[in-house]
Amino acid sequence: MEIWHIRGGNRLFGSCRVQGSKNASLPVLAATIALPNRSVIRNVPRLNDVSAAVSILSHLGCRVESTGQDNELAVDSRQVCCAEIPRGLMEEMRSSVIFMGALLARCGEAKLSLPGGCQLGKRPIDLHLSALRAMGAEIEEEGSDLCCRAERLHGVPIELRFPSVGATENIMLAACAAEGKTVIRGAAKEPEIVALQNYLRSLGVHIHGAGSDEITIDGADARPEASFTVPSDRIAAATFACACAAAGGRILLSGVQYEHFSTVLHFLKCAGCDIIQFNDIVEIASNGTLHAPGHIVTEPYPGFPTDAQPILMAALLRAQGTTRITETIFENRYRQVGELRRLGADIRLDGQEAAVHGVRSLRGASLTASDLRGGAAMIVAALSAGGETTVIDAGHIARGYENLDDRLCALGADVRLEHR
Ligand code: UD1
Repeated sequence: MEIWHIRGGNRLFGSCRVQGSKNASLPVLAATIALPNRSVIRNVPRLNDVSAAVSILSHLGCRVESTGQDNELAVDSRQVCCAEIPRGLMEEMRSSVIFMGALLARCGEAKLSLPGGCQLGKRPIDLHLSALRAMGAEIEEEGSDLCCRAERLHGVPIELRFPSVGATENIMLAACAAEGKTVIRGAAKEPEIVALQNYLRSLGVHIHGAGSDEITIDGADARPEASFTVPSDRIAAATFACACAAAGGRILLSGVQYEHFSTVLHFLKCAGCDIIQFNDIVEIASNGTLHAPGHIVTEPYPGFPTDAQPILMAALLRAQGTTRITETIFENRYRQVGELRRLGADIRLDGQEAAVHGVRSLRGASLTASDLRGGAAMIVAALSAGGETTVIDAGHIARGYENLDDRLCALGADVRLEHR
């Protein structure tokens, strides 16, 4: 259990190197077992979800070691010894589901259960299962247990009715061992999909098209060694940008890719922030007085990311006027709202629509985080609230943010993290 103590009111100044991407690291770690190899993965953030992925890899027989360099892992997947992931490990995070495609590719079987992760409403995996079945896998579902078998996987054209990130990743991994060409139409276009393609290429997989809505995978000339650098975390970058917008100040985010979170920056600019980009640095300046930036609609990439919705909402609680938000990806992604209201926020919900009426000020309160990005939203809001806010968190925030307390303190925030 962690308790965040945040005294709002300090402006943020200074620079911050943004961590490597959680949502790119996890599929790449799962992908290390798709083909036997030794990989060095750089810029891996130290997160609870990464530890969970490492535990799964170790359970499956891989050797995973820190190389001694910061944020660098060496994975040796030449000796995978089992294809079953215990329920306890599966439930630690959502991305455990990506091991299904990787294990099918490597072992021709996978025994696992439905994954854990944030409770954001229904999170079905029917698209994953129907695509893997189309590739030749037999999958039995019993309660939450999944038993998958494929004597041989074959490449087929697959049309996704929705550009699911997880389903696209599972298909990409299974396709590494398929005979013939797999073509994914209607694929997800997120930067994390491009990252996975880049890693698979370094393994010798013939894959192209990631970043567009059609990805083709056509076998592999497997290489025994691979290396890969995880790109920066666009949602962590968005979180710091929103924190600065809400609290006021001027910060430099380094190591980031502007276009990966430009939709979030667009709304911050419309809200009154000054934003400058040069190379891999983005500077955000805010005088702490914002105005409602228009209608925010979450969409698959390159649209506005659902993961950033609670965080931008938190930054706009004091923005003059009314901000409208429509959440289109997850049905239960407003779990932060009840807690933000305790700070004095005026948020009205109507199904998937939210209307945030800017208030003059927020006051500290005692809050409880119920999911990763909702927890981050509470911290962002607390930075601009008067007095002290406590956020009680049962490990959600550490699933996705590396040293968030230290990074915020280095920018001048008054934040203390108590471990109980
Ligand atoms: C989602 C986000 C991703 C984010 C991640 C972590 C989108 C499109 N995806 O990825 O950017 O990094 O959460 O928070 O924003 N769906 C089905 N059947 C399936 C799979 C998905 O109906 O088999 C539906 C879900 O109900 C949901 C949507 O597709 O409405 C989200 O899909 P998906 O991209 O698969 O979710 P994640 O992979 O968790």
